[in-house]
Amino acid sequence: MAALLLAPLLLLLAASPPLSAAGGAHPGYSSGEGTCTVGAGAGAAPGGPLLERGPGRVIDITHAYVPDLPAFAQGAVAGPVVRLKHSMADGSEYNLSELRMECHTGTHVDAPGHINQGHFAAGLDVDTLDLDLLNGPALLVDVPRNTNITAEAMEFLKIPKGVRRVLFRTLNTDRKLMWKKEGDLSYVGFTEDGAQWLVDNTDIKLVGVDYLSVASFDHLISAHVVFFKKPDIIPVEGLKLDDVPVGVYNLHCLPLRLVGAEGSPVRCILIK
Ligand SMILES: *[C@@H]1O[C@H](CO)[C@@H](O)[C@H](O)[C@H]1NC(C)=O
Ligand SMILES: *[C@@H]1O[C@H](CO)[C@@H](O)[C@H](O)[C@H]1NC(C)=O
Repeated sequence: MAALLLAPLLLLLAASPPLSAAGGAHPGYSSGEGTCTVGAGAGAAPGGPLLERGPGRVIDITHAYVPDLPAFAQGAVAGPVVRLKHSMADGSEYNLSELRMECHTGTHVDAPGHINQGHFAAGLDVDTLDLDLLNGPALLVDVPRNTNITAEAMEFLKIPKGVRRVLFRTLNTDRKLMWKKEGDLSYVGFTEDGAQWLVDNTDIKLVGVDYLSVASFDHLISAHVVFFKKPDIIPVEGLKLDDVPVGVYNLHCLPLRLVGAEGSPVRCILIK
């Protein structure tokens, strides 16, 4: 058993370049600023790619996964999300937790198969979502508080062409809806004409919202159908956008590789 384990390890060691390459930097770091490419060879500029930029740059826009997360449907059970399956308090030699939740609980992404059977059958699950789209420059905007995200509201926002990722902060944030366990179907979201306006008039492919659904309840299916007609738009839902100044950020969203699932919890952060 031990020998079997050791063999691949030795192979790995043999294949690794020596750590004492020229300049003292690991050869995995290229000289390109902020980039890290495997096997690039050249040594890193001192203080370059490895420069720490200090605290306060990262804004977490993910809600904590707690049993009190809002339930979307009336009477739906969101939690317990994590429970101890084996507990040292009960005499086990270790603590081991189990995660149990709907894939559309809390901060999450939808995959194209969520409301489009053709995309689901084609295997367009969360594991196929485009990481390049989920990570990149994003614009945070404030939607006027007296409206759902209609065509008129979209027109009013004047989001420039070329912007591919937008986080829409709405009345939902002011109403603290993500902190209301019982759920509230009067949340703000896209209407069908708002979704159609976005598809027809913008380059937006990542649509971030501050409640559980990108579509307002009255347009729950119809607005989703518009967004998922082509499988190139990713809704990111249930974002925590409180107290984040409007502006441009680098967005990073990483869904879990849940093969076959049409939704996944996602950790999203903004970097100033
Ligand atoms: C294991 O879980 C129990 C029950 O929640 C807790 O009291 C204890 O501190 C945990 N032990 C460790 C080592 O985490
Ligand atoms: C948004 O639409 C929902 C129904 O889908 C409605 O209950 C809510 O009042 C609307 N909100 C605003 C601000 O117009």
